[in-house]
Amino acid sequence: MSEYILEAVDVIKHYKQYDQVVYACNRAKLKVRDGEFVAIVGSSGSGKSTFLHICAGLMSPNDGKVMVRGTDLAKLNPDALARFRGNHIGIVFQNHNLIPQLTALENILVPTVMCGRRDHTYEEHLKKLVDALGLEKRLHHLPSELSGGQQQRVALARALINRPQVLFADEPTGNLDRQNSEEVLRLFTETKKLLGQTLVVVTHDMTIADSADRVVEMRDGVLYEK
Ligand SMILES: Nc1ncnc2c1ncn2[C@@H]1O[C@H](COP(=O)(O)OP(=O)(O)O)[C@@H](O)[C@H]1O
Ligand SMILES: [Mg+2]
Repeated sequence: MSEYILEAVDVIKHYKQYDQVVYACNRAKLKVRDGEFVAIVGSSGSGKSTFLHICAGLMSPNDGKVMVRGTDLAKLNPDALARFRGNHIGIVFQNHNLIPQLTALENILVPTVMCGRRDHTYEEHLKKLVDALGLEKRLHHLPSELSGGQQQRVALARALINRPQVLFADEPTGNLDRQNSEEVLRLFTETKKLLGQTLVVVTHDMTIADSADRVVEMRDGVLYEK
C-alpha cells in the first residue's frame, strides 16, 4: 500500500475554446500523506478547480493518473467510481448545494443513504461531527433558516459523515463574509485535529493557506511547491 492517500501524477486536461486548446492542467502532480492539510492557491483560471474535480473523480483527465489510497480512479467503471466516491471522498463546494427541503440533519445523512455504513460507530461519529461543528441546536432547521457559515458547516458535516479518506474543498469560504470565513476555517483545522482528516483545499483565503501544513501554487496548469 502506498504511503500516500492521494497521488496525482502528470494530470493533463485540455478544453477546446473555439479554435484554441486550453490546457487547464498540464502535467500537474501532487502527493498527499495521511492526515496532511494541503492548500492549493493560484490566480483565477490557473486550473485549480479542474485539478480538484479530477482528483475527486468528478471528471476524468485526458492523460495522467489519480490514485486515492492506492486505487487508480481510471480503473473503476462509472458505478464503482460513484460508490468509491461516496465511501472514500468528501467534497465541499463554494455553493454548498444543500437540499432546501431537507433539514440540516437530513442533509448530513444523505450520503449514508446512498453509500456508507451505518454500523455501531456511526452514531458516535455523527455526534462527534455535530459537536465539533457546533450544530447541536440547528439540526432540525432548514438550510434557509441557517446563516451562510452554518450552511457551510452542514455541508462540511455531510462531506465527512462517511469518513472519507480525503476531503476536497473548492473555495469553501468564497461566498462568505470575514466572520463566517474565519468560522469555517476554524472548522477545517478542528476536523484535522479531531478526526485526523486529510484535507485538500483550494483557496484564495490566505488565512486558510497559513494554517495548512503545506501550500502549493497552481500556475498555468502546473503545481509548484511554495
Ligand atoms: N468546461 C470548460 N470548457 C472550456 N474551458 C474551461 C472549462 N472549464 C474550465 N475551462 C478553462 O480552463 C482553465 C482553468 O479553469 P479552472 O480550472 O476553473 O481554473 P481556476 O479554478 O483556477 O479558476 C481556464 O482557462 C478556463 O477558462
Ligand atoms: Mg475555480
